Amino acid sequence: MQDFVAAKFEMAEYWHINSGLEERVKEFLAKKIEPDVVLQIDIPEKDFNIAGRGSSELKNLLKRLGVDSDILRRIAVASYEAEINVAAHSIGGKMISNVYDDLIYMQFIDNGPGISDIEQAMIPGYSTADDLVREFGFGAGLGLPNIKKNSDALHIESALGSPTLVEIIIFFLK
Ligand SMILES: Nc1ncnc2c1ncn2[C@@H]1O[C@H](COP(=O)(O)OP(=O)(O)OP(=O)(O)O)[C@@H](O)[C@H]1O
Ligand SMILES: [Mg+2]
Repeated sequence: MQDFVAAKFEMAEYWHINSGLEERVKEFLAKKIEPDVVLQIDIPEKDFNIAGRGSSELKNLLKRLGVDSDILRRIAVASYEAEINVAAHSIGGKMISNVYDDLIYMQFIDNGPGISDIEQAMIPGYSTADDLVREFGFGAGLGLPNIKKNSDALHIESALGSPTLVEIIIFFLK
């Protein structure tokens, strides 16, 4: 019984780091320094009028801070897809964007129900989107692959019956 409980709540993990950036990412995550700017936004469940505002607000903030347009586009795509995923697939959560002078570190934390198989969720075309979500035009199964493509580092932690944590790092300098 004990084993079953432990297995049920064991979190699975997924990592993708662009080659050559492993040391920079590891060093950043180990240091945990205070960000220059923090933007925190709640993401409600299945409200697609509100979901998307967080990434849009973030884009405006970074534009004002003078972030390069190509980097800005990558951040906008990754944050939008991750924000919509929280609204579409979880009971709600929040998006925390930590801005530093050389990078952005975004965290998407929801309240479950979690992802049963993260490797499967990463496959282009895989989707569990329900009818309502599909009516809004989502559910192609391309959000997570798109986040991976546009991020320098992507870390996902989840399990069925647990919250999902999605962490994204994008450097401002190429
Ligand atoms: N925060 C989350 N909580 C629970 N499940 C998630 C979460 N994010 C993604 N998933 C799961 O991973 C699958 C794939 O996600 P992905 O973003 O690639 O596609 P999608 O959201 O279904 O469609 P699209 O992003 O193309 O509109 C989802 O269908 C869902 O099963
Ligand atoms: Mg998606």
